[in-house]
Amino acid sequence: MTTNVKRRQLLAGAAGLTAASALHAPFVLAQPAKIKVGMMLPSSGTFAALGASITNGFRLAVEEAGGNLAGREIEYYTVDDESNPAKAPENINRLIERDKVDVVIGTVHSGVALGMAKVAREAGTLMLVPNAGAGAITGPLCSPNIFRTSFSNWQPVHPMGKVMAAKGHKTAVFITWNYAAGKESSASFKEGFEAAGGKVVKELLLPFPNVEFLPLFAEVAALNPDGVACFFAGGGGVKFIQDYKRAGLKDKIPVYSTFLTEGVLRAVKDDAQGIETTMHYADALPIARDAEFRRKYAVTFKLQPDVYAMQGFDTGLLLAQAMAAVKGDFGNRDGMIQAMEGATIDSPRGKWTMSKAHNPIMDIYLRKVVGEENKYQSVAWKALADPARGCRMG
Ligand code: PHB
Repeated sequence: MTTNVKRRQLLAGAAGLTAASALHAPFVLAQPAKIKVGMMLPSSGTFAALGASITNGFRLAVEEAGGNLAGREIEYYTVDDESNPAKAPENINRLIERDKVDVVIGTVHSGVALGMAKVAREAGTLMLVPNAGAGAITGPLCSPNIFRTSFSNWQPVHPMGKVMAAKGHKTAVFITWNYAAGKESSASFKEGFEAAGGKVVKELLLPFPNVEFLPLFAEVAALNPDGVACFFAGGGGVKFIQDYKRAGLKDKIPVYSTFLTEGVLRAVKDDAQGIETTMHYADALPIARDAEFRRKYAVTFKLQPDVYAMQGFDTGLLLAQAMAAVKGDFGNRDGMIQAMEGATIDSPRGKWTMSKAHNPIMDIYLRKVVGEENKYQSVAWKALADPARGCRMG
């Protein structure tokens, strides 16, 4: 055989191979590219447990959707954001620029989420917020590619003013961490409480994530308001509940909150009995979808879900629903956005719809700590929408 013949045979062989693969092409293409999901959540620090719950919830929704998103397998990229706003731009850029993710899911801490939203807005990357309530995300920073599946900081605490006023409380002190979520919760509480005839006599702040509560509790005792309202969560919330009891205040000045008692009752149930909170989720909700979610969650993770797990689940439901609407064609950006904007989510919290500013319109419940549960008491506010001040969707 001459070199030329060999070459011709090789070419013929190659052509044959090409023809064969062309024949099989439909089968090759039937396995579409994986969808890259970037999870930017805290896995260390005071909010570590919240990040874990969100991840669990999201994965459960994907499992419910058949383990993929409209036939596309998921490739996860994760980063621990440490609830550190200073590192937010670098961390989200790692996911967007280095890992080239299709969608970023994050995060818990409002300050970190604000940094993320600024980058995602510029880059045009789809961003789903599974917790952080910073008002600006669905306010001045609102954007077609940013959706929130949790709440705005204005929402869960807003009905609390009405609840406390109805109990006859005329004065209140608000205690919180000095950052976006704390300050926005405080402002919303003041708005609600004062509209209902109450007066906030003092706002007490401490730096995030500090837990030196005792000097502030001394001030509370001196002011002697009718009630205390607060925003704390995660590990910091545990310490607040313990210290409030130890300072001898629990039976003197009732404390009210939102997230304070969420996901922590196994650790602090003796110190938390009777604490009332308003929230877009509760234990013992009379909702069949919730019973089903709780059963699956308990079987899968050997744990009871909390509000963060539910929000992670809803983030998965929203993404799965949008992917189904575009039949897995993630590149159909307008179709994805339209599907999310028109979404009704059949959530364990009860059905909710997406507002024009891309934030849930949902019921807020009054709950009370009984044993290890944030037990459902009543609907504190039906279909509450964030005012979305400053949102101009471009
Ligand atoms: C927030 O920073 O927006 C935040 C953090 C923890 C919560 C709720 C809100 O439980």
